[in-house]
Amino acid sequence: MLIDTHAHLDYTDYDPDRAEVIARATEAGVTEIISIGTRLDSSTRAVELAENFPNIWATVGIHPGEVDLAPEDAVEWLRALAQSSRVVAIGEIGLDYHHLPTDPAKVAANKKRQAALFGAQLELTAELGLNAVIHQRDSWEDTLRILADFTGKVRGVFHCFGGTVEQAREVLALGHLVSFTGIVTFKNARQVQETARALEPGEFMVETDCPYLAPVPDRGKRCEPAHTRRVAEQIAQLRGTRLEEIAAWTTETARGFFGFKR
Ligand code: NI
Repeated sequence: MLIDTHAHLDYTDYDPDRAEVIARATEAGVTEIISIGTRLDSSTRAVELAENFPNIWATVGIHPGEVDLAPEDAVEWLRALAQSSRVVAIGEIGLDYHHLPTDPAKVAANKKRQAALFGAQLELTAELGLNAVIHQRDSWEDTLRILADFTGKVRGVFHCFGGTVEQAREVLALGHLVSFTGIVTFKNARQVQETARALEPGEFMVETDCPYLAPVPDRGKRCEPAHTRRVAEQIAQLRGTRLEEIAAWTTETARGFFGFKR
């Protein structure tokens, strides 16, 4: 039994065969999937999916790459969406300095808006008593600085974690978790493989971030929740243990973190 803790099942990539994709996940032993919102429309669809499939749960949030398209009252909409008992976290939220506006004159305003929406969504997370799914890319220090105000109030998972063991320990010490994607199967991913080898049970979860980041040998193709199994297999191999052990640890960790009932 495995849980894909980060899938974008609402994306149009799955419009032709969504039900089959979900069935393949079940066949692969991926018994639960968390569909992650990135905008208001995507969050709305994630909640609809979670209300239609008993093994799917949803998060709602504005991704840092989508802040310029978010309406002024985005947080009000998210608060309303989060009333569904199928919503298990706020996310994905955070800061992304990798994909910034190409026009240099727009960078400062974009970063400011990212920070404002990240903070506002963390406030909402705390208010609702939920946890947060954190997206961080090339923005480590600012992400931790904004998150610092919420230490003890909000727990986050640093999804698609690619950092060092030391960076993982830094966020774990603050009560957060990390999760690993198919990147752990990539040949050039030594650093994150080292981290996946070093962490203790209870400190990490697994995910696909599908449709992105398909594990080897499907790298570059459309990814899907069934591939969570390959992520867990690779971590088991790196640690010299069995898939069943990684599945049991990460499933228990995900159940504790997301709750799955409200
Ligand atoms: Ni994502």
